[in-house]
Parts: sequence; structure tokens; C-alpha cells
Amino acid sequence: TKPKVTVIGSINMDLTVSTPVVPNQGETVLGEQFATYPGGKGANQAVAAARLGADVRLVGAVGKDAFGVELVQHLQAEGIDTSGVKTSQSQSTGTATIILSDNDNRIIVAPGANYDVTPEYVEKQKDLIKGSDILLVQLEIPLETIEYIANLAKEYYIPLVVNPAPYQTLPQDVLDHATFLTPNESEALLLNKEVEASMIQSKLVTTKGPEGVEVTLEGKQETIPGYEVPVKDTTGAGDTFNGALVTQLARQFPLSEAVQFANAAAALSITQVGAQSGMPTLNEVAQFLKERRSSL
Ligand code: RIB
Ligand code: NA
Repeated sequence: TKPKVTVIGSINMDLTVSTPVVPNQGETVLGEQFATYPGGKGANQAVAAARLGADVRLVGAVGKDAFGVELVQHLQAEGIDTSGVKTSQSQSTGTATIILSDNDNRIIVAPGANYDVTPEYVEKQKDLIKGSDILLVQLEIPLETIEYIANLAKEYYIPLVVNPAPYQTLPQDVLDHATFLTPNESEALLLNKEVEASMIQSKLVTTKGPEGVEVTLEGKQETIPGYEVPVKDTTGAGDTFNGALVTQLARQFPLSEAVQFANAAAALSITQVGAQSGMPTLNEVAQFLKERRSSL
């Protein structure tokens, strides 16, 4: 049977422009391509898990606008249960304005409807959440909602993975009840003080780009190496990693194997422009791992 993954998080339309030069303050430059791509950390992670064969439901919100309609249709086409996605009556669909230049991306998120994902709203989705094998959240919805979910996870004995992005100081309940926290390197630096204070080092799964992922295995810190690929766009790499990680954890793989698999999925995702473009299927990851092993 398919692992049941519930993602509670953001849904955005990514407005992506590629440019050879990034403008300075007060400057206008001529860029290259513009395109819209489905995005938002919650939606991205849900799509990553669905492509890898998980049974995924997404709890979130969009606005009463064209982006919202398009994004929900797109999620459904990916096979995701969107019965927990509401339409905000007052806020527009979240957007991320992305400036893509050589080896760099800069993102401004306007949360809009994502902030309508309140604890009260999530409470109404309890039945959807209850039957899950694992829960996955990020920080593009209100922090108080994350705290509510942490307590719910504890109450229902459901493993919870918290991707602390974009970084905000986490409430103690979240540190206590998360099974794993998945910061990237810069988020890990910010998280460190909180972690030291709570002695939860062993919950950290720190993604370090091509270098790999740092985890604690049997009390020892280890780096599980990543894969080198031709990079087109790293937007959503972390999301692919998280979606893949929870899917494999829900399939009962040990952490080290789940991380290795998720590293491969993330590597494949960055070979195409767009957060969700390039997110692989289960077969594609298996094929990639086979090729990499035989080329050693
Ligand atoms: O993690 C990448 C995502 O962050 C983008 O899709 C964008 O929507 C922002 O939320
Ligand atoms: Na991509």
C-alpha cells in the first residue's frame, strides 16, 4: 500500500525571470525569459512525494483568482488530494517573485492566502490528518499553526518533519515534538542556538547542497554525500529533498537510506528550470542511483 503523506503548507505561483545581471538599487536591467511555475514550499513538497508514489493530501489555501484555480487543478493532476485546500475570500494566491541569474536565485514571497492556514482551519482538517503515516510542514504558513500541528502530531503519535524555511525562531513545542528538522546550511546556523539549548542535535537533517546532508547516526555526526549534476535551477531542491525524505521514511526505510534516496531526487530536480520541473518519479530515482553506482 502507498505511504500516506500529509503536507500542511504554502501554495504559490512562482513568477520567475532569468537575467544575466541582477539590478542594483535604483537600477533597471534587461532580463531574459519570464515564466510562471507552480510553487510554494508546501505544494512543491506535496508534488515531490506524489511523483515518488506517496498517497498525498495537502492542507493549504489559495485566493479567489486565476492563479488559485490553476494551482489547484495542477495539484489534482499530480494526483494530490486537495480537499483540504480552501479558497480564501479576502487574500490573493501566494506568489514568489524569483530572480534567476548565474548560480544564484533571489526570492521574494508574498504569502497572501497562505496566512489563512490558521490553527482553527487546520483543526477542521483533523480527520484528514489523523490517518497519515507522516506529516510535513514548512514555515510559509503562520508559526502558530506549526505549533498547533506539532501538538497534534504528538497527540496522534504521527511522525512530523519540520522544514524550517524560510527561517523563523521555532516555538519549544515544535522543537520538542518534531521527529526531524531539515534546515539548509544557513537555516542551521540560525537554528543552532535553539538546538543547543534543547539538546535535539540528533533530530537535525542538515542539507548542504552538493556537499550532501549531515545527520546523526548512532550518536555520530555523518555526511551523506550528494550527487553532482548539471545545474539549471536550484529552486525547490530542498522541497524535493523533503518530499522524498518523508515518503521513504513513511515506507519505513532507515534514515540513512531515506536521505541517500532524497539526495538523488533533489539532484534530478535541479536539472530543469522551475521548482517542480524535474522532480523525479520513483523509477527515475532508481535508474539514476543504478547509473551512479555502476559508474563508480
Ligand atoms: O522552496 C522553493 C519555493 O519557495 C518556491 O517555489 C517559492 O514559491 C517559495 O515559496
Ligand atoms: Na527544477
